Amino acid sequence: MGTVLPEAGSGNSDSMQAYSLIAPAKINLYLEIIGDRPDGYHELAMVLQSIDLADQIDLRSNGTDYIRVHCDNPQIPTDNSNLAYKAAALMAAQFPSVYRKLGGVDITIHKRIPMGAGLAGGSADAAAVLVGLDLMWKLGLTQLELRDLAAQLGSDIPFCVGGGTALATGRGELLDPLPSVDYLYAVLAKHRSLEISTPWAYKTYRSQFQDSYVSDRSGLLDRRQRVHSGAMVSAISQRDGGKIGQCLYNDLEKVVLPAHPQIEQLRQTLAQFNPLGVMMSGSGSTVFALTESADQAEHLRHQLQAALPDPDLGIWSTRLIANGIQLLQP
Ligand code: C5P
Repeated sequence: MGTVLPEAGSGNSDSMQAYSLIAPAKINLYLEIIGDRPDGYHELAMVLQSIDLADQIDLRSNGTDYIRVHCDNPQIPTDNSNLAYKAAALMAAQFPSVYRKLGGVDITIHKRIPMGAGLAGGSADAAAVLVGLDLMWKLGLTQLELRDLAAQLGSDIPFCVGGGTALATGRGELLDPLPSVDYLYAVLAKHRSLEISTPWAYKTYRSQFQDSYVSDRSGLLDRRQRVHSGAMVSAISQRDGGKIGQCLYNDLEKVVLPAHPQIEQLRQTLAQFNPLGVMMSGSGSTVFALTESADQAEHLRHQLQAALPDPDLGIWSTRLIANGIQLLQP
């Protein structure tokens, strides 16, 4: 349960409303760490991609002074550390008169995206709360305004708002849309008990590779430019699934795989079935393999299950999609 926000209003039963939203996960088709930033984050060049593995977020105005979070997975915190709570608190702080008038909100998370997985599950939930409260409170925010709010909460959240396929630079919040890759499919595999801390992955990378960081401004612009015109972006523009598979890249594999041999094993096992390509997503622990059809993805899922019959191993067959947060029902 969330805590009370200052100056919250009493709400009013006439304004009780409910919205349900679909919050898709993302995978990283490309993740290059370019260097350090003055704000302590890393300068990145990424290609982010939405998939049809998604949480459902129900929002209901509750006419009280409270923001409350509920979740069907008891492992997810429902206090004010939950990103969905933080998203609602940010909206309340940004639009105090609307919040005073309409009161608090109950946020129910139907969790389908695994945690600590490198799939931006918490970020997707927060993005859904921003989009949902914009609708519920009739604010009429633009995508850009929603993304600016999202960037205050986390680096992946701006992408989760609009989703699809995008080049992400800066700390991940500067987005350039790319042509859709929604003709490809992905098999995802993750040991349920293995969650990777993103701060740990970046910190470990910094301690091992800081010497190779680009530090001057022109070097940084040059590296960004090279990604814009690079092999992955051109493979996407050419709608060449085979080439996209070959161009998959993730710098964080360099620190996460040596520390977690079971992820390396997953990667190697998936690769031996010859998908278009295999890569770890974000800071892990999910590994994904791209395929050209839903049938191939289903087949690959069965092959992996037979090769690694481990009850701790979660396997999902998914499709790459062209959208972010979607309204399910008014
Ligand atoms: O922005 P977000 O809270 O999702 O980031 C989680 C952690 O990942 C940060 O605390 C930081 O350690 C690391 N990170 C980073 N550079 C980025 C994005 C994330 O170092 N561009």
